[in-house]
Amino acid sequence: MSKPTQNYILLQETIRSHDYNYYILDDPSISDSEYDNLFTELKKIESENPNWITSQSPSQRVGIKPESDFATFKHLKQMLSLANAFNEEDLISFNDRVLKNLDISDHIEYFCEPKMDGAAVSLSYENGILIRGVTRGDGTIGEDITSNIRTIRSIPLTLKKSKHSFADLIEVRGEIFIKKHEFELLNQQAREKGEKVFANPRNAAAGSLRQLDPAITSERPLAFFAHGIGLCSGKEFTNLQEMFSVFSSWGLPVNKFNKVATSIKECLKYFQEVESSRKKIPFEIDGVVFKVNQIALQNMLGEIARSPRWAIAHKFPAEEALTEIKNIEFQVGRTGILTPVAKLKTVNVGGVNVSNCTLHNIDELKRLDPRVGDGAVIKRAGDVIPKMINVIPKKSKRSLQVQIPRKCPSCDSEVAFGLQLEWSAFDRVKSKAIKKFSSIYEAEKYVKDNSSLDLEILETRLDTPFIKCLGDNECPEIIQGKFTHFVSRKAMDIDGLGQEILSTLIKQGFIREFADIYMLKKYRSELESMERFGKKSVENLINSIDRSATVELYKLIFSIGIEEVGETTARNLADHFGSFNAFQLAKFEDLILISDIGPRVASKIIDYFKKSENQISLQKLMGCLKIIDPAHNDPQNIMKFSGQQIAITGKIEPMSRDEVKNLLITQGAKVTSSISNKTDYLIAGENAGSKLDKAEALGVKIIQNEEINSFLND
Ligand code: IVH
Repeated sequence: MSKPTQNYILLQETIRSHDYNYYILDDPSISDSEYDNLFTELKKIESENPNWITSQSPSQRVGIKPESDFATFKHLKQMLSLANAFNEEDLISFNDRVLKNLDISDHIEYFCEPKMDGAAVSLSYENGILIRGVTRGDGTIGEDITSNIRTIRSIPLTLKKSKHSFADLIEVRGEIFIKKHEFELLNQQAREKGEKVFANPRNAAAGSLRQLDPAITSERPLAFFAHGIGLCSGKEFTNLQEMFSVFSSWGLPVNKFNKVATSIKECLKYFQEVESSRKKIPFEIDGVVFKVNQIALQNMLGEIARSPRWAIAHKFPAEEALTEIKNIEFQVGRTGILTPVAKLKTVNVGGVNVSNCTLHNIDELKRLDPRVGDGAVIKRAGDVIPKMINVIPKKSKRSLQVQIPRKCPSCDSEVAFGLQLEWSAFDRVKSKAIKKFSSIYEAEKYVKDNSSLDLEILETRLDTPFIKCLGDNECPEIIQGKFTHFVSRKAMDIDGLGQEILSTLIKQGFIREFADIYMLKKYRSELESMERFGKKSVENLINSIDRSATVELYKLIFSIGIEEVGETTARNLADHFGSFNAFQLAKFEDLILISDIGPRVASKIIDYFKKSENQISLQKLMGCLKIIDPAHNDPQNIMKFSGQQIAITGKIEPMSRDEVKNLLITQGAKVTSSISNKTDYLIAGENAGSKLDKAEALGVKIIQNEEINSFLND
């Protein structure tokens, strides 16, 4: 029998080192095709010399499918779990206990790591060769998933030789996980194939590890980080910092966010740092873990009830939770649009009770296909509204699919189904769209008129489909929504007209149009005798209504509820026209010249003023108001941020985002929600996300941390 050639052994080494650069260092040293060529060569040599192949060859990651279930395996040393700390106080008492047990009055070192939200495994290496991979199981006995573990490219089949000798036998403990973006892709593919989607990356990782066929596991984007050891013979470590650096030298993946802290105070700082960068970290974590760094001290502390006394998990408040769908309803908004909303069994997500969750539109409803009785994974990040990210279909007797309503659930009027399309003439030679049209007829005419060019018509869907109630001013929900918006804080800011009271006043005919609100004081005694009202509250309401009668032009434009006219657009319109009258008389051509106003918004404005009932109602309202426009009253006044375009992202303490926005606007800035090359500054608070990256890429000036305060106030 021939012996493996030097060339073959070298080729294996080369592939291993490229794997290391790619999967561990995240820094590929050759192109994918060069790598493929090396791999093909290896396979060729092996097919000609099958007796050379050992299980350590890079070609041997995917083995054969076992006949039945996995065999069980008793861990050589038990896999412990961690006690939890949910707040600062818990953490301080953990430190107090540690110091007391060790009889130390000073600080001690802790090793800090993110707590990976994945599946725990134990990998045994004998003299540097991977011999077994086992799931955690109940901590004592797990399942032997060696053939699946071998398919994970970031797990070395043989450890890299370094100046640190290998252990005779070592159980490397760690976490198998899936990166966030890989998880999204995996679920997207599952949806496309009509297969079951995973509730979260942890379930996906655990499910992938327990596939009987390693070929399936090999297709899953699994990754690994080492976080400890079980049995270890023939090797000693003094502290965790040393252990992790030896792991790295052996080519085992170690989390780069790990750090040593010299006191519990530094641990708290670490927790805050990791929590604030959580969004940017590419994998799911559910807290951080603190471990006494010195192994000798760990041994002195020992364990209690299957958890070590020397470690603790400081958990983040949960941001994702599983609950049950009780019903799916369609809610009618002030513009008549019907929005599907899931009614949920109340669940706490990140410290907030959630019992309703909007599904936004029909596309989202179809994508998720939620049904009564199904499970739903709800996610909330920071102060963002809850989002349904996955539906877990009920195992048996699943309810029927949600039916799209043909009638408005509030007023029983017919509904209209809308879909906005856009057409473009696509030049096949230049391979790009050269002109856009809002009707197919115009597009067809253009193609005909330009028959010398090689053109085709492309259809693009601009909008997600919507359902709209046609009841208009007859639909109670539309009316209620219209007045709720009108009195809201950012609009006319009238206190004392909550949902219930508004509904009563509308039902009893006190309020039919905007101006009626300003007539309420005539009915003071009737109001005082109504349920939920008293002398004092009527007094407060009337005062608030009086105060609101002096209003800035932009607020009035925003309050009347023209579709697509939000606060920023209203400000732009007020700046441009300077008076309500000029705005009302604006033509389509005038409107589209204003910044941020496209044909779509412009036509909504024109449609609004075309309706005679709107004209009459506004005329009456004008008689009740005094409109002011501070910016136009004093055009000479050059303000601090005049002409500057500023975007805001993240949390800016101690002010709310709206307060910062108002401060900037009152000083002449134009505040935008997105970043473009016209943006002058980005104010980036805590937890700033993708806007920060975009601003950096565009070279926009970024105001961060301590600078924010002086930027705004000096
Ligand atoms: S150490 C003796 N470190 O959390 C200490 N565990 O509740 C045992 N986990 O089953 C674990 N990230 O799967 C440790 N950096 C980390 C971790 C971590 C995630 C998991 C692990 C364990 C569970 C403990």
